[in-house]
Amino acid sequence: MNHEQSKSQIQLTRVSKSFPLASGDFHALKNVSLTIPSGKLVAITGKSGSGKSTLLNLIAGIDKPTEGSVSINGVQVEKLPESALATWRGKNIGVVFQFFQLLPTLTILENVMLPMDFCNSYPKKERKSRALSLLEMVGIKEQADKLPSELSGGQQQRAAIARALANDPPMIIADEPTGNLDSQTASSIFDLFASLTRAGKTVIIVTHERDFSEYFGHVIAIADGEIVKEVIHA
Ligand SMILES: Nc1ncnc2c1ncn2[C@@H]1O[C@H](COP(=O)(O)OP(=O)(O)O)[C@@H](O)[C@H]1O
Ligand SMILES: [Mg+2]
Repeated sequence: MNHEQSKSQIQLTRVSKSFPLASGDFHALKNVSLTIPSGKLVAITGKSGSGKSTLLNLIAGIDKPTEGSVSINGVQVEKLPESALATWRGKNIGVVFQFFQLLPTLTILENVMLPMDFCNSYPKKERKSRALSLLEMVGIKEQADKLPSELSGGQQQRAAIARALANDPPMIIADEPTGNLDSQTASSIFDLFASLTRAGKTVIIVTHERDFSEYFGHVIAIADGEIVKEVIHA
C-alpha cells in the first residue's frame, strides 16, 4: 500500500458504544469491526435508530467508543486529548450535515473561510482566493457574497461541501446530506461527492437513497448496532 492510500484508511476494531439510560445501558453499536480504504465513495445505510450517526461520530472523534478502537491513518482517535481533537478533525475530516449548518450571519465566502481561520491551515492572504476556487468547484461562485438564507437548499449544501473541503482533508463524512433535497438536486450532490473520490478523497455518506447505490464503491448496512451486510465493488 502506498503512502497516499494509507493516508485515510479507517480501521474500527471491536467497537462498541453504549449510552447510559435510567433503564440501563443502551447498546447503540455492538462489537463493530470495519476497514475502509482511502479514495472510495462509501455508503452507510440502515433504518432510523440503527446506529449510523453514532458510527460517523466515532469516526470523526465527535464521540468516543465505550470499547474498542478507531484508528485513522494510524492515529487512534479516541486517545487524542480534547485539546488536539478539534485541530486534528479540522485538518483530517470535513463534515457535512443534513441541514447544512452554515452560520447564518456570515456570507457564503466567510463560511468557507472559517475552517481555514480556525486551523490556520493556509496563509491568511491565500484564504479568500482558496475559498472562491472551492465555491467555483462546487458551482456556486456567484453566490459568494450572499447569506445562506438567500440560497436554495441545494446551493447551501454545495456551500457546506466547499466548507468541508476548506482545509483539504483526505476524508469527508456526510450524515444524510441529501435528506432535505429533492431527488434531482440530490443526484447532483451525489455527482459532486463522486467527483471528490476521483480526486482521491474518501467520502462516507449516510444515506437512505436507494436510487443512488450505483454511485458507491462500498456499502455498509447496519441494523440494531451491527453490520449486517457489506458490499464492496472493485
Ligand atoms: N446521546 C445518546 N443518548 C442515548 N441514546 C442515544 C444517544 N445517541 C443515540 N442514541 C440512541 O442510539 C441509537 C442509534 O442512534 P443513531 O446512531 O443516531 O441512529 P441513526 O443515525 O441510524 O438513525 C438510537 O436508538 C438512539 O436513540
Ligand atoms: Mg442519524
